[in-house]
Amino acid sequence: MNALFNNYARRPISLVEGKGTIVKDEEGKRYLDFTSGIAVCSLGHAHPSLVQTIQQQSEKIWHTSNLFESPGQVALAESLMKDNHFSHALFCNSGAEANEAAIKLARKYTGKHRIITFKNSFHGRTFGAMSATAQEKIHQGFGPLLEQFSYLPFNDIEALQETVDDSVAAIMLEVIQGEGGVHAVTEQFAQAIQDICEKNSILLIVDEVQTGIGRTGTRFAFEQTPLKPNIVSIAKGLGGGFPIAGILATAELYETFGPGSHGTTFGGNPLAVAVAQKVIELVFEQSFLDEVLEKSNYLLQKLNESLPENEFAIRGKGLLLGIDCRKDVSEFVTKAEEEGLLLVGAGPHVLRLLPPLTVTKEEIDEAVDILKKVLLTSKSAVSTS
Ligand SMILES: Cc1ncc(COP(=O)(O)O)c(C=O)c1O
Repeated sequence: MNALFNNYARRPISLVEGKGTIVKDEEGKRYLDFTSGIAVCSLGHAHPSLVQTIQQQSEKIWHTSNLFESPGQVALAESLMKDNHFSHALFCNSGAEANEAAIKLARKYTGKHRIITFKNSFHGRTFGAMSATAQEKIHQGFGPLLEQFSYLPFNDIEALQETVDDSVAAIMLEVIQGEGGVHAVTEQFAQAIQDICEKNSILLIVDEVQTGIGRTGTRFAFEQTPLKPNIVSIAKGLGGGFPIAGILATAELYETFGPGSHGTTFGGNPLAVAVAQKVIELVFEQSFLDEVLEKSNYLLQKLNESLPENEFAIRGKGLLLGIDCRKDVSEFVTKAEEEGLLLVGAGPHVLRLLPPLTVTKEEIDEAVDILKKVLLTSKSAVSTS
């Protein structure tokens, strides 16, 4: 027991330094970080441009609150909305907060209350975001939840068609359910959602907290689908490790959030905005995004060659990949750590691979060698559910 609440199942490793994909613990042991702080450190650890940006901005001004104009926020909003259909942004501090903003915006704009989300989704742990999250284990002990959320099976067109009626303000989904086991929306389901939203004047909220900012090889993952969201929530990769999040929304929603309607003290402070601007400058370069896809294909090919199809299913897009081991993966996570590879689960049976977007092919080779050793020689992992 220590002085902290016990609300995280922490790994018994204290990481004290990092450079690129490599991190070291307090004993000096080296690991390949295929967690990136859960899809956050997209440019790896201690990226020189981010270090320089933080140093320079910290000598100018860190925090002003939103009492004053913020040219940095305006510039970041413009960078995020270049070449897409969004017109206004709002900045906050975490993925859950971004989803709170999206839920509030959708309810206020439509004057309706009901929001459809999907089983095994994950949208965060504040009350609105938790209520949107269709996983009972996340809700346990905290009820009553916010009213008027309907949870439907993911990728089930019929269930959606049967449920939609006049009371629905918004449909909210992840393009790839990250925490929920790395399950991507199908092309047909995405098209059905888009059609239903347009036909019934329902707002579409896409939660890109995990999939956004280049993680799947495009700026936003929805770009690879028929989805055209009215609101997108972003966080994680946006600050490359510095906390910043936000929503981007289409023009018709502008009037809904007038002064006093929503806000947060820290949201988009000058330090956070400066770092995020640098992240966007680097990650939104087409050549950078092309490389993400190239490395993803390389990793996928190596995994497919190495892991027998009848035992493992590999899913996901870009550098958000999951290995479904069809049995409890906790033992695999521990063994990979012993071999120098950090991984995170996605549900009980899936290992999630979230390397920095700057990972090299040599690092991918090294990680796959460790995965082969851990997954193919370990006899001890047994199914627990
Ligand atoms: C898709 C998605 N939405 C929302 C969140 C919540 O983000 P945060 O932990 O920053 O509140 C997460 C976190 O894992 C996420 O993956």
